[in-house]
Amino acid sequence: MCGIVGYTGHRKAYPVVLKGLKRLEYRGYDSSGVALLKDGQLNVYKKKGKVAELEEAMIGKDIDACIGIGHTRWATHGEPSDRNAHPHQSANGKYAMIHNGIIENYALIKQDLTNKGYTFTSDTDTEVLLNFIEDIQKNNNCSLEEAIRIALKRVTGAYCILIIEQDNPDTIIAARKGSPLVIGIGKGEHFLASDASPIIEYTKEVVYVNDYELAIVKPDELILKNLGNEKITPYITKLDMELAAIEKGGYDHFMIKEIFEQPSTIFDCLRGRLDAKEGYIKMSGVDDHIEQLVNANRILIIACGTSWHAGLAAEYIIEELCRIPVEVEYASEFRYRNPIIHKGDVIIAISQSGETADTIVALEKAKENGAFIFGVVNAVGSSIARISHAGAYTHAGPEIGVASTKAFTGQLAVLMMVALNIAKHKGSITTDRYSELLNELEQVPEKVAAILKDADQIKSIADKYKSATDFLFLGRGYNFPIALEGALKLKEISYIHAEGYPAAEMKHGPIALVDENLPVVFIATRDVYHEKIVSNMQEIKARKGKIISIITEGDTISPDLSNDYFSIPSTDELIAPILTVIPLQLLSYYVGIAKGVDVDKPRNLAKSVTVE
Ligand code: G6P
Repeated sequence: MCGIVGYTGHRKAYPVVLKGLKRLEYRGYDSSGVALLKDGQLNVYKKKGKVAELEEAMIGKDIDACIGIGHTRWATHGEPSDRNAHPHQSANGKYAMIHNGIIENYALIKQDLTNKGYTFTSDTDTEVLLNFIEDIQKNNNCSLEEAIRIALKRVTGAYCILIIEQDNPDTIIAARKGSPLVIGIGKGEHFLASDASPIIEYTKEVVYVNDYELAIVKPDELILKNLGNEKITPYITKLDMELAAIEKGGYDHFMIKEIFEQPSTIFDCLRGRLDAKEGYIKMSGVDDHIEQLVNANRILIIACGTSWHAGLAAEYIIEELCRIPVEVEYASEFRYRNPIIHKGDVIIAISQSGETADTIVALEKAKENGAFIFGVVNAVGSSIARISHAGAYTHAGPEIGVASTKAFTGQLAVLMMVALNIAKHKGSITTDRYSELLNELEQVPEKVAAILKDADQIKSIADKYKSATDFLFLGRGYNFPIALEGALKLKEISYIHAEGYPAAEMKHGPIALVDENLPVVFIATRDVYHEKIVSNMQEIKARKGKIISIITEGDTISPDLSNDYFSIPSTDELIAPILTVIPLQLLSYYVGIAKGVDVDKPRNLAKSVTVE
């Protein structure tokens, strides 16, 4: 979490940094701040709250500097406040630093520094690291760069840091381990940021800095080194991203823009990979490693949050089509257990950002144990994409709204193609069934577009139920993960308590909550479980719960049982989750809006959880 931006060059740094912080606000918005360096004067400004509040506080300040760093925070150590906001300054006032990550051994270092007489103005681990660097620099009488190198070898945890120095008028020193850093290369200028969104309007040439690398960045020079002080040749990549992709494009919020983008993002995900007419799926990440995948003894899926829900859906699909045992793990649990991993196990890592700290560490652990890692990632060039042995991008484009929407449907589409591809090679699917599913999958973008045309119906349902204090989401089989996802979306965006359950499991507890005030959302599309879920609807109706159902067009039974219903086009039950989730995304959005929640930046959340 936390977004960081830096600039050194011929422009005024402040507008570049401020705009960058607004783009990175999805990573945290508890406080923000900038440090600007001009004529040997190091000025730090910071403010609790969103970046707009910093912007207001900056009116009338000296913002003429051509070098600056900025930070938008998701609080870890210390409450959101002005004093805990970054940048932090070292005790001697000479250095200003921003940090994304957590220094795990900060307490010991702080104790040591306190014994030496250091005092601290914040509760952050960042200020401790900075004073540690200052202390090393003084004791060794070395350069700042050298002091940073020594300090970083002694800290544990994750970091991406940017430091500027009062006596060094044009240099930013940056380093990373576990938290992302991209450097944009311009003419006589460099841009540094947590992701490429603050950079793309200035340059498309970027360098993704790797773990344990340190960058010395001046307007005309970028030097990359490892912590052993050896130079590394920067690997320059071209950004494949347009500015329009990270702007709202006429929508009120990124979330609704991203929901409405899904017909095209799913299309982009399938494009060039699936051809139903010719009857093939081509995915180089799968094809190049097909033996490994087909012969997997077991597939372990590792993810967090919404991506974990995509993993759960994939478990049902892969086991059905490929007949390979699948287990789905929360990355945060997996990394701290002593999991049994055999050679021949395949790990599928699912992540929108490709930077989720728990997922990264879990993968590193699995990799050490000899597992083959297949990444299903949205952010191109991200850490998880690079850790993976092979993979497939979801191609949903930048997702800015904190609640994941288009990345989720992209994950489902990719995982479906991966499963079909493996099943075809393994011979665990008949030719007819294969073509049937290819055909159905190819039609998904237009079916999603058809659902979105009726978004107003969901808006009316949202208005009707916006005052509920609890919601239950129920689904069976392939739609059970969608019940979990529907509940998560509603919680995130509207702050209404919601739970997702397998519909039958509802009788083992949640049914006690049912009364005339409880809306129960049933995902009750036509599939093998339909009769069973209709019985569950009867059970809720008998207890006067309010039933909202997501049903298949033409279903004549469910509407009679429902207080409200929404129809989706008919599709194969394996593919239904990509459609059934859309009305639930809309429901959470419209309820959130009706309740006045800042849906793109709901409280306490962050888009990219780069701390454990
Ligand atoms: C955060 C986000 C979720 C996301 C989860 C996993 O909690 O708010 O939307 O699903 O992290 O993130 P990843 O980038 O790994 O998919």
